Formats: sequence, C-alpha cells, structure tokens
Amino acid sequence: MKKRFAIVLAAGQGTRMKSKLYKVLHPILERPMILYVLDALDAVSIDKRITVVGHGAEKVKEVVGSRSEFVLQKEQLGTAHAVMQAESLLQNEDGTTLVVCGDTPLITAETFKKLFDHHEKTKAKATILTTKVDDPTGYGRIIRNEAGMVERIVEHKDANEEEKLVNEINTGTYCFDNKSLFEALKEVDNNNAQNEYYLPDVIEILQKHGETISAFVTENADETVGINDRVALSEAEKIMKRRINRRHMLSGVTIVDPDHTYIGPEVVIEQDAVIYPGTIITGKSHIGENAIIGPNSEIIDSSIGASSTVRQSTVKNSKIGNNVDIGPFAHIRPDSNIGDNVRIGNFVEIKKSQIGNYSKVPHLSYIGDTIIGERVNIGSGTITVNYDGNSKHQTIIGDDSFIGCNVNLVAPVKIESGAYVAAGSTITRDVPKDALAIARARQTNKEGYVEKLIKRK
Ligand code: UD1
Ligand code: CA
Repeated sequence: MKKRFAIVLAAGQGTRMKSKLYKVLHPILERPMILYVLDALDAVSIDKRITVVGHGAEKVKEVVGSRSEFVLQKEQLGTAHAVMQAESLLQNEDGTTLVVCGDTPLITAETFKKLFDHHEKTKAKATILTTKVDDPTGYGRIIRNEAGMVERIVEHKDANEEEKLVNEINTGTYCFDNKSLFEALKEVDNNNAQNEYYLPDVIEILQKHGETISAFVTENADETVGINDRVALSEAEKIMKRRINRRHMLSGVTIVDPDHTYIGPEVVIEQDAVIYPGTIITGKSHIGENAIIGPNSEIIDSSIGASSTVRQSTVKNSKIGNNVDIGPFAHIRPDSNIGDNVRIGNFVEIKKSQIGNYSKVPHLSYIGDTIIGERVNIGSGTITVNYDGNSKHQTIIGDDSFIGCNVNLVAPVKIESGAYVAAGSTITRDVPKDALAIARARQTNKEGYVEKLIKRK
C-alpha cells in the first residue's frame, strides 16, 4: 500500500465564531472539535499526521498533544498557504496526502477510508470529497464541465450568480498525490475576493496540467458540516449527539429522550442502564449495568457503579460504587470515592472524601476532606468544618459510628469506630472508640417565664 499522510488545518482564528476561544477548540459535547477529526483519522492508517497551527498555537498543541506533529503558520494567508507550511515535513515523500479542515468534526473514519480507496483506485492526482446540500451558502462550489468532469472549485465569495446555484460543494477534505500537491501549491496566487491563497485552486492548476481530477460524492452531507459560526456549532452538536445516543441505544442502553440527553464520545455505558432527560455525561465517564442516571444530572469524568442511581445531581471526577443512591440535589465534587450500598440524599455536598460501604449521608450535609468508614450514619445537617480560613484539615470517622443531627466536626478531628456524637455538638477533640460525645450547652427550662412576661406588659 502507498504511504498515507494527513494534514489538519487548524490555524484560523474563526472570526465568525465571535469568540476569544480559537475555533478548533470550541467544544462539542464538552470535547474540543479538532479532537473528533483526529479520532476519525485514528481508524485509518496514516504514516504521518501534521496539524497546521497559528492562532492559539500553544493551546491547540496542548489539546492535541502527541497525536500529531505540528507546523506553524505565522500569518493566516489562506488554506493553500496553510498546507504549504507542511512542505518541509512532506516534500520528499511519495504517497497520498489527505487534507482535512479542523472545523469539520463530524466526518467519519468510513468516509476517509472511502475517499482514500476512491483516490487510489482512480489513480487521480487529486480527489475532492464533495456532497450535495440544500443550502450551499458559504461553501466552495464544484464546477464540472459538460462531460461531468471536475474542472475547478469556486469559493462562494468569488462565484457568479450561475455558479452560486450549484449545490455540489467542496467539503474541505481532499486526497492528493503528495508530490503533485506541493508542486501545484507553488502556482497558487491570491487574486480573489478574499486575497487569500486558496487550497481549492490546486484543483484547477492540476486540471490545466492535464492531470486526473476526481470527486468522491458522499451521501452523508451531515458529516461534512463546516463550523464557521455558533449556529453551525449547535447543529453539529445535535448531529453528534444523535449519533452517539443511537450507538448506545443499539447496544442496550435505554435513553428515554435522546434529543435531551448529552453523552460525550468517550463515555462508556453498560447494558440496561437507563438515562433520563436533561442528563449530561461527559469526559471519560463510565456508567455501570442497570444504573439509572437523571433526570437532570451531570456526570463528568466519573464512574458510576452497577445498579446505582443518580437523580438531579452532579458528580465530577469521582468514583461511585454499586447500589449507591444519590440525590435528588446532591453535589459530589472531585476526588470523592464512594463505596457500595451508600446513600447520599438531598442537599448533600461531598468533596474529596471517601465514604465506606453501607454508610449514609441522607440529608443536608457538607462532607469535605473526610474519610468515613463502613456502616456510618451521618445525621441531617452535619458539617465537617474543614477550613480554618488558611488551610484544609481532615476528618476521620470510624466504622459503625453514629453522628447525630446538626453536628460540627471541627477538623482535624477523629471519631473512632463505634462512637456516638450527640445532636447539635460542636466537636473539636477526638472521640474514642465506642464513646458518646456531647458538646453542647445543657438545656435550662425557666418555669412560668411566659406568664411573668405577660404581666410586665
Ligand atoms: C473552506 C474552503 C471551501 C469549503 C469549506 C468547507 C477554502 C479557500 N475554502 O472554506 O471551499 O467549501 O472550507 O468547510 O479553502 N485555515 C488555516 N489557515 C488559513 C486559513 C484557514 O489553517 O490561513 C484553516 C481554518 O482554521 C479552518 C480551515 O482551514 O479549520 C478552513 O478555513 P475556513 O476559513 O473555515 O474556510 P471556509 O471559508 O469554511
Ligand atoms: Ca470552514
């Protein structure tokens, strides 16, 4: 097989996004759009990948990491100029070079494969991935001759009225014979409406040199949406969301209302989980078998065990065991590790804490920087006082202990196993094993007090 290379164009600012964030970093389901393009490339064997960076180069490089080599386009003079920056890395190579825009995140590996196959089979020097759309506004149009052969591409801004009627568009993805590409790029000029060096002009140049130009028309126009503004961004997210939700449903996950369920591309969900509307599951989250998530829950980079339930709650960077019941209205903050058969009820916030098996924090509590053992009951309104205004301190609560309602545990403090803490206590010293701690003012009843009060009036 011929060697294959890929160039991802990602140097533009994305003016039409009207954003301080560089276009290719705008997220779809909480993941920068350029990563979807790289994901699709993963499934095709590519000998060298090069990403052209410019605006926000450092940030883009950080996001892409080791998944690509990089070349810098210092000034954004157009897509042909962008490709030219890869010359030093590719000029001596024999093979096929795929060029794809970093702003077309819906394109799939299957389409890349078909494009490569078509290009290699037809022995063309350039193959354009095209598609037919209802509204071609903004896209380059494919101009064919009477015989139906592709002659050139005309940009929307340079097209005459007749050309504007053409509804076959350039998707911005191409395969080129590598050496022919870099030869032709030398001839591209910027005499056009935008004074840019257009990559599509390479097509006309090769065609005039008598080279074979081919087009591969994909039926899946949905895949080729180029994201230039936030309207297209939301359309792309909708398409991606449907695609991902469909995959989960076909593999045995119930998604009650897929139009109102947002699942990131890297999320894994086991069979017979049920996802209710208004739920967002992102990052590298894992949802176990028979789990119930939602309605209105957010799971970020977390794992939820089998048969656990998370209703109207947020879980971030945490691990939740099996048969755990969370919510409604709980907030599990980063670095929490919750065991099996635990109950976290309404208005409970857990931060950087461990909670042992069969323990319960059923209502209105803040648990931060805490280690809770097994079978512990935390009464309503219990607060771990972990912050002294300067630094954070740890609370440790042993197995089988019982914390009454409205207790303050002023950290650092340790409640040993089997201990009881009376309701309303503010605990500042450790409580020994199996002891009862009471730390509150004793009650006094003033008999007949109300009668005296009335008389005084
Ligand atoms: C481009 C195509 C158009 C096609 C459309 C498909 C050109 C001239 N036009 O138009 O035919 O229908 O894509 O979506 O190529 N970029 C750089 N450096 C630059 C300019 C752009 O790296 O100097 C990158 C951008 O970051 C972007 C991609 O190239 O990822 C495409 O640029 P964009 O300005 O979005 O081109 P379109 O106007 O959409
Ligand atoms: Ca674009």
